[in-house]
Amino acid sequence: MANFDYKGGVLHAEDVPLDRLAAEVCTPFYLYSSAALEAAYRGFESALAAEKLDFQICYAVKANPHQAIISTFAGLGAGADVVSLGELRRALAAGIPPQKIVFAGVGKTETEMAAALDSGILQFNVESFPELETLDRVAGKKGAVAPVAIRINPDVDARTHAKITTGKAENKFGIDLAHAREAFAKAAALPHLEPKGIAVHIGSQLTEIAPYEDAFAKVAELFEALRGEGIALQRIDLGGGLGVTYRDETPPEPAVYAAAVRRTLGRLGVPLIFEPGRLLVAEAGILVTRVLYAKQGATRRFLVVDAAMNDLIRPTLYDAWHDIVPIAEPDGTLSPQSVDIVGPICETGDTFARDRALPPAASGDLLAICSTGAYGATMASTYNSRVPAPEVMVRGADHAVIKPRIDYDALIGQDVVPGWL
Ligand code: LLP
Repeated sequence: MANFDYKGGVLHAEDVPLDRLAAEVCTPFYLYSSAALEAAYRGFESALAAEKLDFQICYAVKANPHQAIISTFAGLGAGADVVSLGELRRALAAGIPPQKIVFAGVGKTETEMAAALDSGILQFNVESFPELETLDRVAGKKGAVAPVAIRINPDVDARTHAKITTGKAENKFGIDLAHAREAFAKAAALPHLEPKGIAVHIGSQLTEIAPYEDAFAKVAELFEALRGEGIALQRIDLGGGLGVTYRDETPPEPAVYAAAVRRTLGRLGVPLIFEPGRLLVAEAGILVTRVLYAKQGATRRFLVVDAAMNDLIRPTLYDAWHDIVPIAEPDGTLSPQSVDIVGPICETGDTFARDRALPPAASGDLLAICSTGAYGATMASTYNSRVPAPEVMVRGADHAVIKPRIDYDALIGQDVVPGWL
């Protein structure tokens, strides 16, 4: 991970030593590098620009919805892909202009539609016939016309984890290609909708280019067929999903992805929207945790750390691999030990890694769980009544606690006890 390096025997985030930061903030905590966020954004943007594509990047807020993260991208020119009123409010609050916001998601409520119309967003990515009707009715009540992209389901296997595959026929997402033209005709006929584009998103953590090419070719074909029918669309939203290297995956470089976009869609000469999430934030973040106990079980050795599955659910939910490294640089003299790295939560699923080779670690040692900037803090819970891990952003030698640790009174204070108790 760029921007995370050992200097003087201690892992640094940019120029901030993580042992000192851990003493100040207390573990566990998430940490994000501003330089890494900016580099990821610039890298993706320049790959698209190199192919001379006309595009807007709409950061997928779900990957990490912190205001400081969104506003970092807003400052670089990003728009936002939002999937709830909460995300819409976050994107607007962080300074994303409404005309750069797309509202995706399979289950938008009327309240969410009304609020998004009032905000003047760029488009709704509609995923079903009943949703078209509802959006038309909501817009009609306001005397407004809703800009609509229809998300198609291209029935392409993204060859990623089943739980984050979204473009197969059996998935709940989008309208199948056989009904896509009917959907566009309906959107064109409804008085308070204006068809603006096609949207597609086939899954997350893609590590191959072929599924993208298949999906994009189908989108291009549909776009041309619609043009032939007199439905002239203004843009295509290609979703997100480009993977990162957690272990030994070799996802396509942005340049390879951009070239595939150009090959499949370039001839249409139409503006494109991209919705990357993970690619922009995953490698900019780590979760810093401290070893509580090194425990020898009957058959395995455990490192019990102070972070848990409530802080980072990906390993147990998706069997995801995250690199785990010591904050104190190993001196190379001691040979690694095979350990299970587990949290304090009362279930066996609270495991970050099994059979992981790590230099011998003892109580009090600090570890970094790597590439956790995406789908880390945002998927956290307070299970076992653990307070959410604080979040810290680093820039050069500076750092800021961007989400302080709340106290237990605040956690318990969210409960309302009925008067009869
Ligand atoms: N656009 C749409 C319509 C999406 O559903 C998603 C992600 C994205 C864009 C951004 O995808 P990305 O570029 O981040 O792959 N919690 C899971 C990932 C769920 C992704 C859901 N949709 C994980 O931790 O792997």
